[in-house]
Amino acid sequence: MAKKLHIKTYGCQMNVYDSERIAEVLSPLGFVPWDTTDGADMVILNTCHIREKAAEKVYSELGRLRKQKEAMAADGRRMVLAVTGCVAQAEGEEVLKRAPYVDMVFGPQTYHRLPQMVAEATRASGQQLDTDFPEESKFDALPQDRTVDGATAFLAIQEGCDKFCTYCVVPYTRGAEYSRPAGAVLSEARNLVQAGALEITFLGQNVNNYHGEASDGSTWSLARLIREAAEIDGLERLRFTTSYPAEVDDDLIAAHKDVAKLMPYLHLPVQAGSDRVLKAMNRNHSVDEYRALVDKLRIARPDLALSSDFIVGFPGETDADFRATLKLIEDVTFIQAYSFKYSPRPGTPAALMDLQIDEAVKTERLAELQAVLNAQTLAFNAACVGKTLPVLLDRTGKKPGQLIGRSPYMQAVVVNTSEPLMNRIVDVTITSAGPNSLLGTLEKDNQKACA
Ligand code: 5AD
Ligand code: SF4
Repeated sequence: MAKKLHIKTYGCQMNVYDSERIAEVLSPLGFVPWDTTDGADMVILNTCHIREKAAEKVYSELGRLRKQKEAMAADGRRMVLAVTGCVAQAEGEEVLKRAPYVDMVFGPQTYHRLPQMVAEATRASGQQLDTDFPEESKFDALPQDRTVDGATAFLAIQEGCDKFCTYCVVPYTRGAEYSRPAGAVLSEARNLVQAGALEITFLGQNVNNYHGEASDGSTWSLARLIREAAEIDGLERLRFTTSYPAEVDDDLIAAHKDVAKLMPYLHLPVQAGSDRVLKAMNRNHSVDEYRALVDKLRIARPDLALSSDFIVGFPGETDADFRATLKLIEDVTFIQAYSFKYSPRPGTPAALMDLQIDEAVKTERLAELQAVLNAQTLAFNAACVGKTLPVLLDRTGKKPGQLIGRSPYMQAVVVNTSEPLMNRIVDVTITSAGPNSLLGTLEKDNQKACA
């Protein structure tokens, strides 16, 4: 009999990818996706440890699940409760202690071992913990066939990080940098296209430092991988995230000019606009180097739209440092951004730095920064009104007859149509723009750039 599996995913796109792969690993054991925790035979929380708030959410969700698990047990049914992702990796033992009703905790590098863990859990009660960084790569043990929900897919090509930005837990939770062999990546890309993907996003914590081994023993860069993947028939769009500015090389810049399938949108986190803060963060580049990189990228691809991550209130950040960040934002312009208050993470150097910033100051700076960033998003969206953009429609909207898709610049575009255009790329003329989405009508001609 089919067993109901609910996976709740927190955090980044790598977690979204991992959740899909976890579902694929469990599918041969009879687990089918179930979209609520209610009545699920197995619930997996795929967690995020990047900021304190993200980690805390897990414990409150576990408290809620405990009640559901107990109610099921009273009914004679068992809910297997599992925690994976970066909280599992960073504080697995603590999860088991704080939530003794959790059956298993496994890290992001060991989910290929899930079939054994599940078998173990059905044989005996008791908690299981597997947060190894195993010798074998999980990717070799995962099923080759991929399923695609809609027409867009993530593909992890690189994992882990050796950069050790002083605020970040990722090098500890995801381990050392590892690039998958180029052949394995291309074969997974072909499988995804076969399963219906028109757009693939290559994922990695430091994706542009990809250096995968090819079958002839040579090493491929991200640019090389992009060029080769662009040759796959049926694949229409390529993206990659997340990039580390200090390691964007000339070949990758050139790929933005040469590879038409590579979308003109780049997530290039800068974090801060002050050299002093960048140095304390161990980011390995100056503000001017970032500006120069953006200039080169925009020469290669004039309509390139940028997004970024920002941290405000890093230890020692003065008002002048913060103003420098605002100035950088005003000069560069970002069409989209993720911004956060600095959150001290256990085990990271910045958590121990002097001059931690007051919460109230962080809150004020974040609001000011977000106001500037939101205005830039809105201005970019407004500049698209009247333009025609190719949109990959891959979701239904809230209202009947609405389809939603992504423009090349990652904007959400809503279209009213009665035609069966789901999972197709269609030309849409933008009629109005808000901060979070564009509205448009189906069209065939006109200009295609908003920048
Ligand atoms: N506090 C706040 N933001 C953080 N990020 C990473 N670590 C922290 C932290 N300790 C942000 C960075 C990164 C994004 C994924 O999360 O901006 O790029
Ligand atoms: Fe964290 Fe820095 Fe690595 Fe990004 S590059 S994952 S911010 S340590």
